[in-house]
Amino acid sequence: MQYSRVLGTGSYLPSRVMTNADLESIVDTSASWILERTGIEKRHLVGDTETCCDLAEAAARNALDAAGIAATELDLILVATTTPDQFFPSTACLLQQRLDVHGCAAFDLQAVCAGFVYALDVADKFIRTGAAKHVLVVGAETISRVLDWTDRTTCVLFGDGAGAVVLGAADEPGIISSHLHADGAYKELLQIPGGHGNGRPEAAFMEMKGNEVFRIAVTTLGRIVEETLEANGLTRDDIDWLIPHQANIRIIQATARKLDLPLERVIITVAEHGNTSSASIPLAFDQAVRDGRIQRGQTVLMEAFGGGFTWGSVLLRY
Ligand code: COA
Repeated sequence: MQYSRVLGTGSYLPSRVMTNADLESIVDTSASWILERTGIEKRHLVGDTETCCDLAEAAARNALDAAGIAATELDLILVATTTPDQFFPSTACLLQQRLDVHGCAAFDLQAVCAGFVYALDVADKFIRTGAAKHVLVVGAETISRVLDWTDRTTCVLFGDGAGAVVLGAADEPGIISSHLHADGAYKELLQIPGGHGNGRPEAAFMEMKGNEVFRIAVTTLGRIVEETLEANGLTRDDIDWLIPHQANIRIIQATARKLDLPLERVIITVAEHGNTSSASIPLAFDQAVRDGRIQRGQTVLMEAFGGGFTWGSVLLRY
């Protein structure tokens, strides 16, 4: 039996930083409101000429270096993003060109904030079936470009960034199990309603009913962690680290409470990054690997929830 394991991680944040205080001059808000309701202190935003592929490339190169893998050894490049540079080619194909590799499969996957968890599952399945030996999985977003900067209920919550992992074939897991779900019934609560496809390109900005999203996210994430533990006959004591999607510190605290997991065992970056959608989990993962908190052999539970709604988890031994 073939499994997949994480060979290396990488991440990248654009250099421009916007603090809560900076936002006070853009919309009717206060730094203290944002901090108290979300736990966010600041976020990184792309500059005028920076694109999703720029962020993806920097994170990917870091991950390849950490894995000790040359880009030419990749069999698949997978980019989870909701904010691609252009309609097509996919950001994965643009990234492939930047990495100067030619011929391996490359495609984007769109599951909004659950995108990275979805992409890890897909990559794992490519490796388990023997279709690939090395897969680059990137979560990269320039969410700032699809925000309505006059809407205080959304623009204060998000940031830009990218994270990446290189997965490689292994005799033992690695990725132990993944659990993916979606329910398209909740479109009205969180969406970018416009697009060329429905003749409304002018409405391509995020809309959210935050309060309702919050309640459903807390319940759903509680269920997905239970589902993951049950499927593997594990208890919370078997989990060394929880890496949650970084949307709101209160959602993270609620999930940790549900697991009865002390916050010291939860990787939290929401204060510095805000919600970077599909980049949030790989950014947090890379940070905790590089600062030495997550060690080889430890068990990591990732969980995410996003527009669609989509949600899911990945349980892995690092
Ligand atoms: N600054 C100041 N006040 C704000 C504000 C802002 N940026 N945004 C909203 N408010 C106001 C509201 O207008 C409302 O005022 P009112 O009571 O006079 O009507 C008040 O604050 C409370 O709004 P509410 O939406 O109930 O706040 P909340 O405690 O639910 O926090 C969110 C709002 C968005 C932070 C929270 O609902 C949330 O995090 N939701 C989930 C978001 C999420 O995770 N989305 C992505 C999923 S991947």
